[in-house]
Amino acid sequence: MSNILCIGAGYVGGPTMAMIAKFCPEHKIMVVDINQDRIDSWNSDNLPIYEPGLLEVVQEARGRNLFFHSDVAEATRDADIIFVSVNTPTKMFGKGAGKAADLQFWEKTARDILANCRKREVIVVEKSTLPVRTAEAMAKILQSGKGSTHFSVVSNPEFLAEGTAIEDLTTPDRVLIGGEQNKHGRKAVEIVAELYAHWVPRERLLLTSVWSSELSKLVANAMLAQRISSVNSISALCERTEADITEVSKAIGMDTRIGSKFLEAGIGFGGSCFRKDILHLSYLCEYYGLPEVADYWGSVVRINEWQIDRFFQNILREQFSTLAGKTISLLGFAFKQDTGDTRDSPAIPLCEKLLGEHANVRVHDPKALENAKLDLKEMQGDITFFEDVYEATEGSHALALVTQWNEYRELDYERIFKMMAKPAFIFDGRNHLDHEKLFEIGFNVCPLGKSPLKYI
Ligand code: NAD
Ligand code: UGA
Repeated sequence: MSNILCIGAGYVGGPTMAMIAKFCPEHKIMVVDINQDRIDSWNSDNLPIYEPGLLEVVQEARGRNLFFHSDVAEATRDADIIFVSVNTPTKMFGKGAGKAADLQFWEKTARDILANCRKREVIVVEKSTLPVRTAEAMAKILQSGKGSTHFSVVSNPEFLAEGTAIEDLTTPDRVLIGGEQNKHGRKAVEIVAELYAHWVPRERLLLTSVWSSELSKLVANAMLAQRISSVNSISALCERTEADITEVSKAIGMDTRIGSKFLEAGIGFGGSCFRKDILHLSYLCEYYGLPEVADYWGSVVRINEWQIDRFFQNILREQFSTLAGKTISLLGFAFKQDTGDTRDSPAIPLCEKLLGEHANVRVHDPKALENAKLDLKEMQGDITFFEDVYEATEGSHALALVTQWNEYRELDYERIFKMMAKPAFIFDGRNHLDHEKLFEIGFNVCPLGKSPLKYI
């Protein structure tokens, strides 16, 4: 039996530790965070994050071998394995501002571990997404102490996606574990692998060097985002040529060498990681003297920003180039469906641009309304938030679908159409709705990457 600790009880720390606790009942898992409110929520049935299936997993293990606590120092004392899952945002000051990873939270945990840990052998597991060679800095700090603890640093990046976290953790494509290429390193990797082997088939446990593991995580996100930017760039060409992006995506995705996933055109990717991880990758390339490579990856982010702006420009143009005093209702605010997370959601710049044109903005989202209020707190202008989607759309000039929640497919659009100002427009930023049907009802329908269906 080991004492397993996770520092950082966020979108990654909470779900991953709940799964380890579920499948490894012989180990005691403690999850700590400096944010007392978050810990209180984890100890209640009102979890701090919305994730389908998560509550059931937490309820099964909580109080048995899964515990949430806010005393980081005390929890560190007896830990044998310490997962570090703190946030690693983009640095907003000093050298590398807007591009480099801000490692202050990360480094603080290294110092906390060094100051409090009492066991002779401790494995520190990088769960957060980090620039390649961060483990080296971690190891240097940990080895600087006078205590007798021997530390091994292992990289075990997380690949779960929000909204499907429990599914992704239950049947991962692979679990990547990188370790130092020496006796201690190999032993540490094997101990971490043994945890996952409780439920993940051995052939899906991929053991590599620390550096390959760290870099692979950044590259996996960059490649996924690159596919989205590629398809979004082609969506613009489709709009000029009467080709249809859904048909093009299907046609290219049926080539098994390309594959069908992550080829859905949309308003642009959001979420706390894609943008930040590509910026960090790009900065690393710059740092290591590879400006061409840095620029290549930077273009993935630039296309994403352009796509969000293109969606906004389309609304403005179709609204006869004036939005002042008009009401635009956003269907969805979360960066994707099945999550309440709004970090880096394309809805945020979209609202800013709409408000800049003096539009009245209404926001509806089934799970993200509280986060949306925080995101838009500082913005000047007329913004209102609605729990009822029919109230949100009543009297509005246009609907802008931002998040592909299933429930938006099932709305009574005849009722919505009747209550809207005419001509009524719908801008489908995710190609999520039945466009023919909406057109039959009377809407002017403007999808992405395909010809609009319009009466005017
Ligand atoms: P998060 O912001 O939801 O959670 C991080 C938590 O760490 C916060 O609750 C914060 O209070 C806590 N924390 C910060 N410093 C601390 C300290 N010194 N001691 C104790 N607690 C501390 O972040 P997240 O979304 O869980 O992401 C964590 C890491 O995982 C990031 O590196 C991210 O890139 C990576 N990641 C995220 C996802 C995702 O879907 N969100 C998926 C894969 C990887
Ligand atoms: C992503 C990765 O998929 C995870 O593997 C990774 O662990 C995680 O980032 C991370 O490191 O944080 P996540 O951001 O939660 O997961 O969600 P995705 O499903 O990847 O969607 C990201 C964004 O891309 C969303 O805004 C989504 O709407 C958009 N998207 C996705 C598209 O526009 N088109 C697609 O075809 C797919």
